[in-house]
Amino acid sequence: HESITKIKYIEKIQFGQFEIDTWYFSPYPDEYGKARKLFVCQYCLKYMRLLKSFTGHLKDCKVQKPPGREIYRKGIISVFEVDGNEEPLYCQLLCLLAKLFLDHKVLFYDTKVFYFYVLCEIAKEGCQIVGYFSKEKESLANNNVACILVLPPYQRKGYGKFLIAFSYTLSRKEGIIGSPEKPLSDLGRLSYRSYWAYTLLELMSDLSTSSLSIKALNKLSGIATDDIIYTLQSMRMIKYWKGQQVVCVTTRTINNYLQLPQLKRPVLTVDLDCLDWTPHK
Ligand code: COA
Ligand code: NA
Repeated sequence: HESITKIKYIEKIQFGQFEIDTWYFSPYPDEYGKARKLFVCQYCLKYMRLLKSFTGHLKDCKVQKPPGREIYRKGIISVFEVDGNEEPLYCQLLCLLAKLFLDHKVLFYDTKVFYFYVLCEIAKEGCQIVGYFSKEKESLANNNVACILVLPPYQRKGYGKFLIAFSYTLSRKEGIIGSPEKPLSDLGRLSYRSYWAYTLLELMSDLSTSSLSIKALNKLSGIATDDIIYTLQSMRMIKYWKGQQVVCVTTRTINNYLQLPQLKRPVLTVDLDCLDWTPHK
């Protein structure tokens, strides 16, 4: 895609208390796109070139949370659903920010056709954005995630897998077997593989090996067949039998896997009692 060859001018952003090094080109317009540093408001996501504009903005900005509806709250964790059609400016600003950390996705389709699920940590000063995923309102391919991002200062704390789990929770409520839009980035693949492996192994350890099948796992986990096959193949738990792929594993192997130190129980899980959401019709 076009953006891959574009030169990255913006080297860092000031975002709340964080100074964050950027990873990739993002199409901030005009002179903003040529600045070496941008100042971005962590509440309204407005961007500025000058420190003095930024400090002025911080005094004036009344925004303390994402627009849209809060659909999840547990402790200091909160998720807002933002309709790209109702909040085009916020969603465009979110896409611009996200592109600084996303290599391959073409982000700038119309925000109208997406919902954005914005994850926040609640602080005294307001709801501070940690990350988000976007989701097509109508997906023919049953994609339940288009883009997913955790901002660098918040990465590797389990928020990525929380967002993944959240995306599957919404799909299950819709009665859909969902899957993230491909291709995944390297970090995206690591996170999904970790989520899929743990989820499937835990389910498998509860089932008798005789009732184990790709179909059963598909139904119980809400993970798409291809993603199940990919994950089980990487653990050598798939065999060909009469031209078909079948699960082939012993209880002992499952338990051995579950005990591996590199297989981590998610630190943050979705508590259904804290979710206030029903599918859109
Ligand atoms: N190096 C090695 N492993 C990493 C890693 C890194 N830099 N970042 C995450 N992982 C692994 C973690 O070890 C973890 O697996 P484990 O729990 O089995 O150890 C798993 O990936 C997920 O970690 P988690 O803390 O839940 O993820 P995160 O909050 O760091 O968010 C992304 C993951 C993908 C959302 C985040 O890296 C990101 O925003 N990347 C940039 C945007 C992107 O590439 N998005 C995906 C597009 S398809
Ligand atoms: Na982690």
